Amino acid sequence: MHYFQYRDRALHCDEVDVREVAEEVGTPLYLYSHRTLLRHCTNLHTAFGDTPHLTCYSMKVNGNSTILRLLAKEGIGVDIVSGGELYKALRAGFPPDRIVYAGVGKTDAEIRYALEEGILSFNVESLPELEVINGIAGRMGIRAPVGLRINPDVDPKTHPYISTGLKSNKFGISSARALESFKWAAEMPHIEVIGIDAHIGSQITTVAPFVESAEKLAGIVGSLKREGIALRYMDIGGGLGIPYHEETPPEPSEWVEAVLPAVNSTGLKVIFEPGRAFVGNAGILVVRVLFVKETEHKTFVITDGGMNDLIRPSLYNAYHEIWPVERTHADPIVADVVGPICESTDFFAKDREIPRPERGDLLAVMSAGAYGFSMASNYNARPRAAEVMAREDRFTVIREREQYEDLIRGEES
Ligand code: LLP
Repeated sequence: MHYFQYRDRALHCDEVDVREVAEEVGTPLYLYSHRTLLRHCTNLHTAFGDTPHLTCYSMKVNGNSTILRLLAKEGIGVDIVSGGELYKALRAGFPPDRIVYAGVGKTDAEIRYALEEGILSFNVESLPELEVINGIAGRMGIRAPVGLRINPDVDPKTHPYISTGLKSNKFGISSARALESFKWAAEMPHIEVIGIDAHIGSQITTVAPFVESAEKLAGIVGSLKREGIALRYMDIGGGLGIPYHEETPPEPSEWVEAVLPAVNSTGLKVIFEPGRAFVGNAGILVVRVLFVKETEHKTFVITDGGMNDLIRPSLYNAYHEIWPVERTHADPIVADVVGPICESTDFFAKDREIPRPERGDLLAVMSAGAYGFSMASNYNARPRAAEVMAREDRFTVIREREQYEDLIRGEES
């Protein structure tokens, strides 16, 4: 559910006419719907009802400071994966005791930084990492709060590039080694073991893999109790899918209902880390058609946005709907919607039926709020796009379009 809708023939974001934003800000541009974002935030934040919980927005999904500030104000926490994300999260107003830190490769400097700031928990992904955290905390004369990330070997049935909880993936500690790892951690003088964690993948559209993973975690929590190791948190990760096209992922409330028995059986406070479900359908990428190129084989609609702006189609063959910003009566054509970048994988859609656009028309690449701008790059020396937030009938640039000078910042000139 989102608030990108046509009024007469013109696409609107909340009450804002998308054409007006493109005229004023230029293209390509990311446009976010404030109302959609808040709606998703409320749904996710309240889904666990009275069950003690902490909702942590996974900020790798979209780290724009305005979006972070908005979510921090709503009282949720944040899931981070780097020192840079910690810096942005703190500046946006997330209190340290609502920050959880995952990632297979934390540097010593990042670990020290997070310890100094007093985050809620490190989600530790390996025993060597645990040793390093113990050592650094020891030198600082403190104890580091940690949860162990367990790899539950559950198939999330999503794209292989975004599966993380299979035994062939690099993430977490295998469930077979969970018990001995917890015992080992519990004996470390500068480690305080407070949680258990799993994150099995992203864009998951059924509840079964989540339930399987939560049950495996609950089983481990039970064994730990018997060994005298009492935890405080069970972090069930993120991964809740969104409708990009024809998917019908569970609503947050259905998802919670499914995992709740496993969560409740532990008596622990539950942490969950959705990302995509917050912002995916709250954002679009607006691009302008440069050329319509006909070859003997195909029609290419060439736009001023490319894979450097939104890499998901190139990287995961991801499907994003393409909507005309102004509806016309043009006959439909089947075309590849592509960017200007010198790569054959630079596309937004392949063999897609769309109303025949003309040079200068605006197109909206839908559901682009998650892993859109946050994965953008300067490839082909393209300044990164502007980001804009629409709220009621007004809009604000929340990140300026990069300029050519930005492309040489820090380089010897
Ligand atoms: N927690 C952890 C530890 C994660 O690694 C992730 C995402 C999340 C939470 C949030 O997952 P979500 O709720 O957004 O599914 N770039 C890919 C997705 C990569 C996911 C990385 N980890 C894409 O565009 O589909």
